[in-house]
Amino acid sequence: MQLLDRGMLKFDYQFPLYNFFFPTQALNVYQPGRNQFAEMMVTANKSARSRALYFHIPFCESICSFCPFTRGLYKRAEDIDRYTQALIGEIEYKAQVMDLKAVPVRAIFFGGGTPSLLSPRNIYDIGEALHRHFDMRDVQEFSFEFNVTSVTEDRIRALAAIGITHARFGLQTTDREWRHLFNLDPDIGKIERAAELLRGHFGHVLCDILYGMNGSHEQQTLADIDKAVEMGVSNVDIYPINNAATSVKLHKQIKARFADVMPAMRKLT
Ligand SMILES: C[S@@+](CC[C@H](N)C(=O)[O-])C[C@H]1O[C@@H](n2cnc3c(N)ncnc32)[C@H](O)[C@@H]1O
Ligand code: SF4
Repeated sequence: MQLLDRGMLKFDYQFPLYNFFFPTQALNVYQPGRNQFAEMMVTANKSARSRALYFHIPFCESICSFCPFTRGLYKRAEDIDRYTQALIGEIEYKAQVMDLKAVPVRAIFFGGGTPSLLSPRNIYDIGEALHRHFDMRDVQEFSFEFNVTSVTEDRIRALAAIGITHARFGLQTTDREWRHLFNLDPDIGKIERAAELLRGHFGHVLCDILYGMNGSHEQQTLADIDKAVEMGVSNVDIYPINNAATSVKLHKQIKARFADVMPAMRKLT
């Protein structure tokens, strides 16, 4: 294929994204014994000069129709408490089989699901475990994902205390019809208040925007970017919707409502 002067064409298709399915949801996972696990961890970390940690919090208050991540509706706060204890237990287990402090941590990311459903107590407990077991002196980014409905003062205080530097939340879109199709709260005021609260405590506040849905229009994306800028966020992560990963219900609703399809090239442009 001749790409010279037609560089854009190279990108006229979309790769599948596998991070949607992390952590993998298998029943019979490989469970090495303690010595075998220790050997694997030590070998894997032999030449590491810095570390990045990812924590997955798979609970949500409601399910957005576009979202295929590893997540589910939670029923009781105790489930989140138990999960938090399991995460801390995992850090402690790893700390017994290898020296976690030997390699400094540079980046930490709490993603989901909805990490902002952790209670202040959960946040302090995980933070304490992190600072006790890892070398945190070189951390340059400590990111935490919020859903705007769970942005509260007491959570923010706990997160600031454990060292969060980057607060991230999903704006997705301000368009009322699309918010309805996505099963998102229609109240934009809630998003504005959450952004303001976050800006008061964190140096970096980032939001996600989704674009390129079949039947949507560029004007909408531009309006969403304007809204993000107006709210004073420091960065915007703009995601082209991955239609292969959204819910069947959303596919059907879009098909019933809109006739036009958004080609990958138009998304890119
Ligand atoms: C794991 S979600 C976490 C966001 C957080 N729970 C919230 O609701 O704000 C991270 C981001 O992935 C993006 N995303 C989700 N589903 C997507 C899809 N089907 N295609 C492209 N991006 C998607 C959304 O912009 C979302 O904010
Ligand atoms: S976008 Fe966030 S809140 Fe919505 S279902 Fe996905 S993880 Fe949950």
